[in-house]
Amino acid sequence: MRLALLAALSVLFSIVVADNTEYGPSRGKLVIIGGGNAVNTGIMERFVSLGGGISKNFIIVPTANGNRDEDGNVRVYNRSQVIGPWLRMGIKNVHMLHTHSPKIADTDDFTKELRDADAVWFDGGRQWHIVDSYAGTRTYTEFHKLLDRGGAIGGSSAGATIQGEYLVRGDTAGAQIVMTKEPNHQKGFAFLRRSAIDQHINTRNRWDDLIPVIAKYPRLLGIGLSEGTAIVVSGDNFEVMGKAKVAIHDNTKQYKAGDKPYYLLSAGDRYDMKTRRKIE
Ligand SMILES: *[C@@H]1O[C@H](CO)[C@@H](O)[C@H](O)[C@H]1NC(C)=O
Repeated sequence: MRLALLAALSVLFSIVVADNTEYGPSRGKLVIIGGGNAVNTGIMERFVSLGGGISKNFIIVPTANGNRDEDGNVRVYNRSQVIGPWLRMGIKNVHMLHTHSPKIADTDDFTKELRDADAVWFDGGRQWHIVDSYAGTRTYTEFHKLLDRGGAIGGSSAGATIQGEYLVRGDTAGAQIVMTKEPNHQKGFAFLRRSAIDQHINTRNRWDDLIPVIAKYPRLLGIGLSEGTAIVVSGDNFEVMGKAKVAIHDNTKQYKAGDKPYYLLSAGDRYDMKTRRKIE
Protein backbone atom coordinates (compact mmCIF):
# COMPACT_ATOMS: atom_id res chain seq x y z
CA MET A 1 0.00 0.00 0.00
CA ARG A 2 2.69 2.42 1.07
CA LEU A 3 4.87 1.25 -1.85
CA ALA A 4 2.05 1.87 -4.32
CA LEU A 5 1.62 5.37 -2.97
CA LEU A 6 5.36 6.00 -3.24
CA ALA A 7 5.36 4.71 -6.80
CA ALA A 8 2.41 6.94 -7.71
CA LEU A 9 4.12 9.93 -6.12
CA SER A 10 7.38 9.27 -7.95
CA VAL A 11 5.52 9.02 -11.29
CA LEU A 12 3.79 12.31 -10.53
CA PHE A 13 7.10 13.87 -9.51
CA SER A 14 8.84 12.72 -12.68
CA ILE A 15 6.03 14.22 -14.79
CA VAL A 16 6.40 17.55 -13.01
CA VAL A 17 10.20 17.44 -13.40
CA ALA A 18 9.87 16.33 -17.03
CA ASP A 19 7.97 19.48 -17.91
CA ASN A 20 10.54 21.64 -16.22
CA THR A 21 13.19 22.18 -18.86
CA GLU A 22 12.93 25.07 -21.29
CA TYR A 23 15.78 24.27 -23.67
CA GLY A 24 17.18 20.75 -23.58
CA PRO A 25 15.18 17.52 -23.41
CA SER A 26 14.13 16.61 -19.88
CA ARG A 27 15.66 13.13 -20.10
CA GLY A 28 17.54 12.66 -23.37
CA LYS A 29 21.00 14.04 -24.16
CA LEU A 30 22.27 16.00 -27.15
CA VAL A 31 25.72 16.21 -28.72
CA ILE A 32 25.92 19.12 -31.16
CA ILE A 33 29.16 19.53 -33.19
CA GLY A 34 30.13 22.48 -35.38
CA GLY A 35 31.39 20.36 -38.29
CA GLY A 36 34.97 19.50 -39.22
CA ASN A 37 37.18 16.97 -37.57
CA ALA A 38 36.41 15.86 -34.02
CA VAL A 39 39.15 13.22 -33.80
CA ASN A 40 41.05 13.28 -30.49
CA THR A 41 38.52 15.57 -28.82
CA GLY A 42 36.62 12.82 -26.98
CA ILE A 43 33.35 14.14 -28.41
CA MET A 44 32.39 11.03 -30.38
CA GLU A 45 33.30 8.80 -27.45
CA ARG A 46 31.05 10.94 -25.25
CA PHE A 47 28.19 10.53 -27.72
CA VAL A 48 28.59 6.75 -27.75
CA SER A 49 28.67 6.66 -23.97
CA LEU A 50 25.55 8.87 -23.70
CA GLY A 51 23.85 6.42 -26.07
CA GLY A 52 24.59 3.72 -23.50
CA GLY A 53 27.81 2.32 -24.99
CA ILE A 54 28.83 0.12 -27.89
CA SER A 55 26.32 -2.66 -27.20
CA LYS A 56 23.31 -0.36 -27.72
CA ASN A 57 21.26 0.34 -30.87
CA PHE A 58 22.57 3.22 -32.99
CA ILE A 59 20.84 4.80 -35.98
CA ILE A 60 22.74 6.87 -38.55
CA VAL A 61 20.83 9.37 -40.71
CA PRO A 62 22.82 10.41 -43.83
CA THR A 63 19.90 12.38 -45.32
CA ALA A 64 21.51 15.86 -45.11
CA ASN A 65 23.80 14.74 -47.93
CA GLY A 66 20.84 14.94 -50.29
CA ASN A 67 17.69 13.25 -51.49
CA ARG A 68 18.35 13.42 -55.22
CA ASP A 69 21.38 13.62 -57.51
CA GLU A 70 21.98 16.39 -60.10
CA ASP A 71 19.77 14.57 -62.62
CA GLY A 72 16.85 14.48 -60.20
CA ASN A 73 17.14 10.77 -59.56
CA VAL A 74 16.49 9.51 -56.06
CA ARG A 75 19.82 9.21 -54.30
CA VAL A 76 20.82 5.76 -53.07
CA TYR A 77 23.18 5.71 -50.09
CA ASN A 78 25.81 3.04 -49.70
CA ARG A 79 24.95 1.50 -46.36
CA SER A 80 28.42 0.14 -45.64
CA GLN A 81 29.96 3.57 -46.20
CA VAL A 82 27.41 5.26 -43.95
CA ILE A 83 27.73 2.84 -41.04
CA GLY A 84 31.40 1.86 -41.58
CA PRO A 85 32.91 4.49 -39.25
CA TRP A 86 30.53 3.40 -36.47
CA LEU A 87 31.36 -0.29 -36.88
CA ARG A 88 35.03 0.66 -36.65
CA MET A 89 34.26 2.38 -33.33
CA GLY A 90 33.15 -1.02 -32.08
CA ILE A 91 29.39 -0.48 -32.19
CA LYS A 92 27.66 -3.71 -33.11
CA ASN A 93 24.08 -2.70 -33.82
CA VAL A 94 24.14 0.17 -36.33
CA HIS A 95 21.30 0.85 -38.71
CA MET A 96 21.20 3.37 -41.56
CA LEU A 97 17.95 5.31 -41.68
CA HIS A 98 17.17 7.18 -44.88
CA THR A 99 14.37 7.99 -47.24
CA HIS A 100 13.69 10.87 -49.62
CA SER A 101 9.97 10.36 -49.08
CA PRO A 102 7.97 11.79 -46.16
CA LYS A 103 5.27 9.27 -47.05
CA ILE A 104 7.68 6.41 -46.38
CA ALA A 105 9.00 8.22 -43.28
CA ASP A 106 5.45 8.15 -41.95
CA THR A 107 5.16 4.35 -42.02
CA ASP A 108 5.40 1.74 -39.29
CA ASP A 109 7.91 -0.25 -41.26
CA PHE A 110 10.37 2.63 -41.74
CA THR A 111 10.38 3.55 -38.03
CA LYS A 112 10.76 -0.03 -36.75
CA GLU A 113 14.47 0.21 -35.80
CA LEU A 114 14.06 3.76 -34.54
CA ARG A 115 11.48 2.64 -31.99
CA ASP A 116 14.12 0.35 -30.41
CA ALA A 117 17.03 2.77 -30.80
CA ASP A 118 19.15 4.22 -28.02
CA ALA A 119 20.98 6.84 -30.08
CA VAL A 120 20.54 8.69 -33.38
CA TRP A 121 23.28 10.48 -35.30
CA PHE A 122 22.71 13.03 -38.10
CA ASP A 123 25.49 13.39 -40.69
CA GLY A 124 26.33 16.76 -42.25
CA GLY A 125 25.25 18.20 -45.59
CA ARG A 126 22.34 20.61 -46.02
CA GLN A 127 19.86 20.72 -43.17
CA TRP A 128 16.76 21.30 -45.34
CA HIS A 129 17.07 17.80 -46.83
CA ILE A 130 16.39 16.38 -43.36
CA VAL A 131 13.32 18.61 -43.08
CA ASP A 132 12.05 17.56 -46.52
CA SER A 133 12.23 13.87 -45.59
CA TYR A 134 11.03 13.79 -42.00
CA ALA A 135 9.19 16.95 -40.85
CA GLY A 136 5.67 16.15 -39.69
CA THR A 137 6.14 12.38 -40.07
CA ARG A 138 6.13 9.49 -37.68
CA THR A 139 9.94 9.44 -37.94
CA TYR A 140 10.04 12.98 -36.53
CA THR A 141 7.80 11.89 -33.65
CA GLU A 142 10.05 8.90 -32.97
CA PHE A 143 13.16 11.11 -32.77
CA HIS A 144 11.45 13.01 -29.95
CA LYS A 145 10.24 9.81 -28.30
CA LEU A 146 13.81 8.53 -28.20
CA LEU A 147 14.75 11.63 -26.19
CA ASP A 148 11.70 11.15 -23.94
CA ARG A 149 12.99 7.71 -22.99
CA GLY A 150 16.46 9.05 -22.20
CA GLY A 151 18.27 8.35 -25.49
CA ALA A 152 20.98 10.43 -27.16
CA ILE A 153 20.85 12.45 -30.36
CA GLY A 154 23.98 13.80 -31.99
CA GLY A 155 25.04 15.42 -35.19
CA SER A 156 27.62 17.59 -36.87
CA SER A 157 27.30 20.60 -39.21
CA ALA A 158 23.82 20.27 -40.80
CA GLY A 159 23.26 17.58 -38.17
CA ALA A 160 23.91 20.26 -35.55
CA THR A 161 21.67 22.96 -37.02
CA ILE A 162 18.69 20.61 -37.45
CA GLN A 163 18.64 20.18 -33.66
CA GLY A 164 17.70 23.83 -33.08
CA GLU A 165 14.22 25.33 -33.06
CA TYR A 166 14.92 27.91 -35.80
CA LEU A 167 16.59 26.42 -38.90
CA VAL A 168 19.65 28.54 -39.68
CA ARG A 169 20.79 28.45 -43.37
CA GLY A 170 17.71 26.48 -44.48
CA ASP A 171 17.67 28.00 -47.97
CA THR A 172 17.81 25.61 -50.93
CA ALA A 173 19.68 28.24 -52.99
CA GLY A 174 22.78 28.02 -50.80
CA ALA A 175 24.29 27.93 -47.34
CA GLN A 176 25.36 31.58 -47.57
CA ILE A 177 21.72 32.63 -46.94
CA VAL A 178 21.39 32.68 -43.15
CA MET A 179 17.62 33.30 -42.97
CA THR A 180 15.57 31.73 -45.72
CA LYS A 181 12.24 33.07 -46.94
CA GLU A 182 11.16 29.52 -47.83
CA PRO A 183 8.32 28.91 -45.35
CA ASN A 184 8.96 25.16 -45.11
CA HIS A 185 12.68 25.55 -44.28
CA GLN A 186 12.60 27.86 -41.26
CA LYS A 187 11.90 25.31 -38.54
CA GLY A 188 14.40 22.87 -37.12
CA PHE A 189 13.53 19.72 -35.20
CA ALA A 190 13.72 21.55 -31.84
CA PHE A 191 15.53 18.85 -29.89
CA LEU A 192 17.11 21.95 -28.31
CA ARG A 193 14.16 24.32 -27.95
CA ARG A 194 14.49 28.12 -27.98
CA SER A 195 17.72 27.89 -29.96
CA ALA A 196 19.21 28.75 -33.35
CA ILE A 197 22.38 26.75 -34.06
CA ASP A 198 25.12 27.67 -36.54
CA GLN A 199 28.34 25.77 -37.38
CA HIS A 200 31.80 26.16 -38.95
CA ILE A 201 31.88 29.68 -37.46
CA ASN A 202 35.67 29.82 -37.16
CA THR A 203 36.71 28.36 -40.52
CA ARG A 204 33.95 30.12 -42.52
CA ASN A 205 34.05 33.38 -40.53
CA ARG A 206 30.43 33.15 -39.43
CA TRP A 207 30.97 34.77 -36.01
CA ASP A 208 28.42 37.55 -36.57
CA ASP A 209 25.91 35.58 -38.64
CA LEU A 210 23.43 34.85 -35.85
CA ILE A 211 23.06 38.56 -34.99
CA PRO A 212 20.11 39.13 -37.40
CA VAL A 213 18.52 35.83 -36.33
CA ILE A 214 18.42 36.85 -32.67
CA ALA A 215 17.33 40.37 -33.61
CA LYS A 216 14.32 38.89 -35.39
CA TYR A 217 13.64 36.12 -32.84
CA PRO A 218 14.70 37.59 -29.48
CA ARG A 219 13.31 34.68 -27.47
CA LEU A 220 15.94 32.37 -28.96
CA LEU A 221 19.46 31.68 -27.76
CA GLY A 222 21.95 31.75 -30.64
CA ILE A 223 24.68 29.13 -30.51
CA GLY A 224 27.54 29.41 -33.01
CA LEU A 225 29.83 26.38 -33.02
CA SER A 226 33.40 26.16 -34.28
CA GLU A 227 34.68 23.08 -36.09
CA GLY A 228 35.74 20.13 -33.96
CA THR A 229 33.84 21.75 -31.10
CA ALA A 230 30.62 20.60 -29.44
CA ILE A 231 28.09 21.35 -26.80
CA VAL A 232 26.85 18.38 -24.80
CA VAL A 233 23.36 19.17 -23.55
CA SER A 234 21.82 17.81 -20.39
CA GLY A 235 18.53 19.44 -19.40
CA ASP A 236 19.00 23.21 -19.53
CA ASN A 237 22.79 23.00 -19.15
CA PHE A 238 25.55 22.22 -21.57
CA GLU A 239 29.26 21.57 -21.45
CA VAL A 240 31.67 22.68 -24.18
CA MET A 241 34.07 20.09 -25.61
CA GLY A 242 36.66 20.24 -28.36
CA LYS A 243 39.13 22.49 -30.09
CA ALA A 244 37.78 26.02 -30.43
CA LYS A 245 35.18 28.58 -29.36
CA VAL A 246 31.41 28.65 -29.06
CA ALA A 247 29.74 32.05 -29.63
CA ILE A 248 26.71 32.65 -27.43
CA HIS A 249 24.29 35.19 -28.89
CA ASP A 250 22.38 36.21 -25.78
CA ASN A 251 20.23 39.31 -26.06
CA THR A 252 19.45 39.45 -22.33
CA LYS A 253 22.89 41.01 -21.69
CA GLN A 254 23.92 44.63 -22.05
CA TYR A 255 26.78 45.05 -24.51
CA LYS A 256 29.03 48.11 -24.67
CA ALA A 257 28.78 50.28 -27.75
CA GLY A 258 31.17 48.87 -30.34
CA ASP A 259 31.18 45.41 -28.75
CA LYS A 260 29.68 42.44 -30.59
CA PRO A 261 26.39 41.20 -29.06
CA TYR A 262 27.75 37.79 -28.12
CA TYR A 263 30.35 36.19 -25.89
CA LEU A 264 32.62 33.18 -26.22
CA LEU A 265 32.88 29.89 -24.37
CA SER A 266 35.71 27.33 -24.51
CA ALA A 267 36.26 23.63 -23.84
CA GLY A 268 35.50 22.78 -20.23
CA ASP A 269 33.05 25.65 -19.77
CA ARG A 270 29.65 24.69 -18.43
CA TYR A 271 26.68 26.92 -19.19
CA ASP A 272 23.12 27.28 -17.90
CA MET A 273 20.88 28.24 -20.82
CA LYS A 274 17.98 29.17 -18.55
CA THR A 275 19.90 31.72 -16.46
CA ARG A 276 22.27 32.52 -19.36
CA ARG A 277 25.26 32.15 -17.09
CA LYS A 278 28.45 30.15 -16.94
CA ILE A 279 28.34 27.57 -14.15
CA GLU A 280 31.41 28.26 -12.00
C1 LIG B 1 29.63 0.42 -51.05
O1 LIG B 1 30.86 0.80 -50.46
C2 LIG B 1 31.74 -0.27 -50.24
C3 LIG B 1 32.90 0.26 -49.42
O2 LIG B 1 33.43 1.45 -49.94
C4 LIG B 1 32.14 -0.87 -51.58
O3 LIG B 1 33.04 -1.95 -51.37
C5 LIG B 1 30.89 -1.36 -52.29
O4 LIG B 1 31.20 -1.82 -53.57
C6 LIG B 1 29.85 -0.24 -52.40
N1 LIG B 1 28.60 -0.79 -52.89
C7 LIG B 1 27.94 -0.25 -53.89
C8 LIG B 1 26.65 -0.92 -54.25
O5 LIG B 1 28.32 0.72 -54.51
